[in-house]
Amino acid sequence: MSNSVSLDPQLLNEGWLPREIFWSEEIYQLELERIFARAWVFLAHDSQLPKAGSFLTTRIGEDEVIVVRGRDGKVSAFLNSCPHRGNRVCSAEVGVARGFVCNYHGWSFGLDGSLRGMHESDSYDREPTFDRSRLGLKKVAQIESYKGLLFATFDADAPSLPEFLGDFTYYLDVMLDNDPGGTEFFGGCISSILGCNWKIAAENFAGDALHAGWTHASGAEAMLGGPVAPLGDPANESYHVNVNGHCWEFNLDGVGNAATLGDKGIVRYLRENERNFAQRLGETRAKMVGSVASANVFPNFSFLPGQNTFRTWQPLGPHKTELRTWVLVNRNAPEEVKQAWKKGAMLTFSPSGVFEMDDGENWEGSTHSNRGFVTRQQPLHYGLGLESRVAHPELPGNVHRGQINDANQRAFYRQWSKMMTSTDWSELLDPRAAR
Ligand code: FES
Ligand code: FE
Repeated sequence: MSNSVSLDPQLLNEGWLPREIFWSEEIYQLELERIFARAWVFLAHDSQLPKAGSFLTTRIGEDEVIVVRGRDGKVSAFLNSCPHRGNRVCSAEVGVARGFVCNYHGWSFGLDGSLRGMHESDSYDREPTFDRSRLGLKKVAQIESYKGLLFATFDADAPSLPEFLGDFTYYLDVMLDNDPGGTEFFGGCISSILGCNWKIAAENFAGDALHAGWTHASGAEAMLGGPVAPLGDPANESYHVNVNGHCWEFNLDGVGNAATLGDKGIVRYLRENERNFAQRLGETRAKMVGSVASANVFPNFSFLPGQNTFRTWQPLGPHKTELRTWVLVNRNAPEEVKQAWKKGAMLTFSPSGVFEMDDGENWEGSTHSNRGFVTRQQPLHYGLGLESRVAHPELPGNVHRGQINDANQRAFYRQWSKMMTSTDWSELLDPRAAR
């Protein structure tokens, strides 16, 4: 194992990160084992599986999975790989099915993943050791939903989803619970491939407000009619917060600020509902609804609260990532507001969106420069806000003052390092941050 797998905590606390973690195949393989095969990973929104038999296919790390709603209404998830010769069982991305049949030799599986039958079944039945009950599609160890978001883990020993999320649910509720009708994914999923390491994208959403005013300057002029407002004024009430490696950076300027895609309908909807948000969430969190912000649920599930884009960074090797994006809206929002959010997301954060293009080019550059041996030996700077930690009377988790800060990125890599080096869950979650 490379030494770079365990990040030197002292160096990280001082704001330095080795580049090897963005390049090494060895480290990447260990990430699949220690992070993606153990952490709770986002699978789907409940609204994507509206009825019995509704299914979609996705990945946890590089493990392909089928997520399906059974006849009892419960959602289960299992490997999309046949236990006979390993073929992919379901090739569709989404649909409604009564079961799944493998193309190769006709083994068929129920909505619960159990083996039901096969071509030439008599030949199997004559085999004394053949046991259908042991040959279903391998299920995830645990699957759970938090207010419409479905997560799963392959690790039976992993703590429950509420423990894994800890006090981060306080922040998640800003998006998921600001309205009694709950939320839905509106429209379909857009997928694209980026030539970057998945962590570079995840850490950007975890806390990189710094890049917005520079990387996205021209895009903001074109899309929003003006520059991104400077975010570094110490007088701003803005924060980096993190819990168990889950990160959110935001300001408390109030609803309807610059993140609303410049759409008057969205701004009106937010303003009209300001009192309702405050009643459900309290005054402080109500100011976060629709606000300039970005977040990442460890390891690879990100969103922008103002733009309502939700996305996963699914690894396909150390230098390749599949980006899948959806638009989340309040289920009870007027149709034209939902449409405006979808259109806004398409124009900004989609493969054809102006901001996505800006980011992707930078992340690919940040990944591929590390192919140079000497370049790879040079540490990267993550040293903004080393002394920014504050105690806040209301905000839970680790709170750091200032949106222009690297505190969340350091927290993301601290969690990454803990999971890469320890197999003991009692060492992996912050007890202060657990509910
Ligand atoms: Fe699936 Fe043979 S590989 S039936
Ligand atoms: Fe960006």
